[in-house]
Amino acid sequence: MKNNYDKIAAGYDLLSRLVFGSALIHAQTCMLHLIAAHSRILIVGGGTGWILEELAKVHADGLQIIYVELSAEMIAHAKRRNWQQNEVVFINEPIEHYSSTAQFDVIFTAFLFDNFTLAKATLIFTQLDEMLMNKGKWLFTDFHSDQRAIHVWQRILLKIMFLFFQIVCKIEAKELTNMVPLFAHKDYRQLLFSKRYKGFIQSFVYEKNSCAADLTV
Ligand SMILES: C[S@@+](CC[C@H](N)C(=O)[O-])C[C@H]1O[C@@H](n2cnc3c(N)ncnc32)[C@H](O)[C@@H]1O
Repeated sequence: MKNNYDKIAAGYDLLSRLVFGSALIHAQTCMLHLIAAHSRILIVGGGTGWILEELAKVHADGLQIIYVELSAEMIAHAKRRNWQQNEVVFINEPIEHYSSTAQFDVIFTAFLFDNFTLAKATLIFTQLDEMLMNKGKWLFTDFHSDQRAIHVWQRILLKIMFLFFQIVCKIEAKELTNMVPLFAHKDYRQLLFSKRYKGFIQSFVYEKNSCAADLTV
C-alpha cells in the first residue's frame, strides 16, 4: 500500500525531532490560536496525535474533531492521547475515501501533501475545499522549496527525505508539490504566514473566500 506509515509510526515523532528539533511542532502549534471555540475540525494525516493534546491546551472542551488517518498504527498511538473534553472521532481510511455531508469550520493538514503527486494533491485539495464552509479556516503546513532559490542543504535534505520515505512508507511523491497556487486559485486569503529553516518549513492559515488582512508572524 502507498503512503503507509505503519512501519514507522512508533518512531516517527522521535525521528522528526532528531532531524528538525521542535520546528515541525511549532510549525503546527503557531496556527492553533486562530481556531475558534466549538469548531468542527477535520484533521487529515494527523500522525501519532500529539496535535490533539496541543488543541486541548487551546480549547479543553467543545471541539468536535474528525481525525482521518491512513495508518492504523498512527491511529493506535493517537487514541492514547488526552484530548480533554473535546470529542474525537477516528477514521482509519485514506482521505480520498472519506466524505461528509456536514461541512467543517477548520481543516488541518500538516506534512500531508508532501506525500502526494501533483495530480493527487490537486484532487485531495479540491475534495477538502468542498468540505470547508465559507469563511472556514484551513491550517496548512508543509515543506517548501523555491526552485529558483533553493539552498544546497535543502536540496540534499529533500533528496534524503524522499528516498527514506519512498523506501519505508512507499510514498507516491518524488518531489514537493507547491500548494500555494491552489489556494490562490480558489481565492483563499492568507491570515497567517510563518516560516522556519529559511523557508523550508512554511505554515499558512487561509480563510476561504474572505477579505481578511494579512498577519505575518
Ligand atoms: C509525514 S506524516 C505527518 C504526521 C503529522 N501530521 C505530524 O506532523 O506529525 C504524514 C501522515 O499522513 C498520513 N497519510 C498519508 N496519506 C494519507 C491519506 N491519503 N489519507 C490520510 N492520511 C494519510 C500518514 O499515515 C502519516 O501519518
